[in-house]
Amino acid sequence: MSQYPDRIRLQSLTDKITTAAEAAKLVKNGMTVGMSGFTRAGEAKALPVALAERARSEELKITLITGASLGNDLDKLMAESGLLARRMPFQSDAGLRKAINTGEVMFIDQHLSDTAEQLRGGSLKPVDVAIIEACAITEEGGIVPTTSVGNSATFGATADKVIIELNLAHPLALEGLHDIYFPEKRPNRKPIPLVNGQDRIGLPYIPVDPAKIAAIVITDQEDSYSNVLPPDDETQAIANHLIAFLEKEVEAGHMTNSLLPLQAGVGTIANAVMNGLLKSNFSGLTMYSEVLQDSTFELFDAGKLTAASGCSFTLSEKMCHHVLANLDKYKDKLVLRPQELSNHPEIVRRLGIIGINTALEFDIYGNVNSTHVNGTHMMNGLGGSGDFTRNAHLAIFVTKSVAKGGAISSVVPMTPHVDHNEHDVDILVTEIGLADLRGLAPRERAQLIINNCVHPDFRPAMQDYFDRACATVGGQTPHILSEAFSWHINMQQTGHMLGNK
Ligand code: COA
Repeated sequence: MSQYPDRIRLQSLTDKITTAAEAAKLVKNGMTVGMSGFTRAGEAKALPVALAERARSEELKITLITGASLGNDLDKLMAESGLLARRMPFQSDAGLRKAINTGEVMFIDQHLSDTAEQLRGGSLKPVDVAIIEACAITEEGGIVPTTSVGNSATFGATADKVIIELNLAHPLALEGLHDIYFPEKRPNRKPIPLVNGQDRIGLPYIPVDPAKIAAIVITDQEDSYSNVLPPDDETQAIANHLIAFLEKEVEAGHMTNSLLPLQAGVGTIANAVMNGLLKSNFSGLTMYSEVLQDSTFELFDAGKLTAASGCSFTLSEKMCHHVLANLDKYKDKLVLRPQELSNHPEIVRRLGIIGINTALEFDIYGNVNSTHVNGTHMMNGLGGSGDFTRNAHLAIFVTKSVAKGGAISSVVPMTPHVDHNEHDVDILVTEIGLADLRGLAPRERAQLIINNCVHPDFRPAMQDYFDRACATVGGQTPHILSEAFSWHINMQQTGHMLGNK
């Protein structure tokens, strides 16, 4: 009889229970490892520690693919141990960021919908070992994921060997939340049969050949809680501008009072903007998003939101306890899917998503940099922002108008790195105001962005740059190339974008 009969329901698999140190021996130097985990939710907890331990005393370097970022400081631990040769497709850890920016770890910053497709299609080296956190293993050997699905389904399907971390800290009530679907082979793939965001089109577990399950490690550790900050005056102002804009879209008959399905990016600002919807007059809202943050459940509890689909949920401590204790209340409204489905470009276009993502900076023509500080240093990565932005009904970017105590303007003459280009971006919002770029030519956009989004401390200098670019160089998109990055160079040399003021 299994020691965990409700958690390991395929009796023969109980023989596979072992320690993390033993299971870690299945990973050899040079291998590609696919690990569960998406934005600090549902990551394997014990194997990363055991692998880092080995890397400190023997030659062990791996390519690590996950869903997105990991919690519990695991990316930091693995980077500092020297385990990571290559890492993809997203991270948000200061320690790993440092190793990426010194060139020790090769980081492949990828659209999050793309990794699974590239693995199945052979564009990436196959996964040798998959390490997946589960809250249960079904009678068929299927893996019931925990708080994220991420890329785990494709890791399980394509890896030679699968290690399961059965985490007793996650309640069994999570079962039934997941919807696992694999798009068919190309080129004759049938359309993905998802018509409403809350549709379930697959299985409640990840199907895996039990013969591939090489080890089961029992853990009992919670996810780490989200570190987003509460809304402040500026994020509230950003939310107010956006809500006023959406109200006008409703008045104009472009959408109903339920809007269109909402997607909100990761981080403090996007969470605060969604939080702002609590006080709006919209009702019957839905989300078709990637990571679900506290604001999703606040909107559920306020009766504003009727359904949410994502590939993980990442919550503050208080909200996490509330949600896990009340899962039954949310279950019929909540779906967790593989990230290739939550972020699928075709579905995003078809559902007509309102995509709200955060920029580090944008330029006067609407090009957005979400990833590279000063054009060179990686912050977190592109994440799913590109999956949504290119295909959204409304592609919206929000940011505070200044950063680092006012030394940096988040609106710049030219972004030194472009994640989302002017052809994809519809709406830009700072606490100063909102610029609706739809249907505008570059020179029109520039003036609107200067008027509506630039902080007053930087506006005269920006207006001067634009006027001189139009007068001296001209063109469809006027720029003075010798000056276009001068604000970034000033920042590097003087610590202020306008130089020594
Ligand atoms: N130049 C340099 N640093 C900047 C900056 C700029 N123009 N704008 C902001 N920053 C810094 C902030 O000062 C802050 O630094 P700190 O951590 O040292 O305090 C950090 O960037 C985060 O900014 P913050 O204002 O707290 O916003 P956030 O938590 O909402 O994060 C992004 C903003 C852009 C980093 C984050 O949203 C991100 O990684 N986005 C890309 C991925 C993505 O969009 N995923 C969602 C897809 S579903």
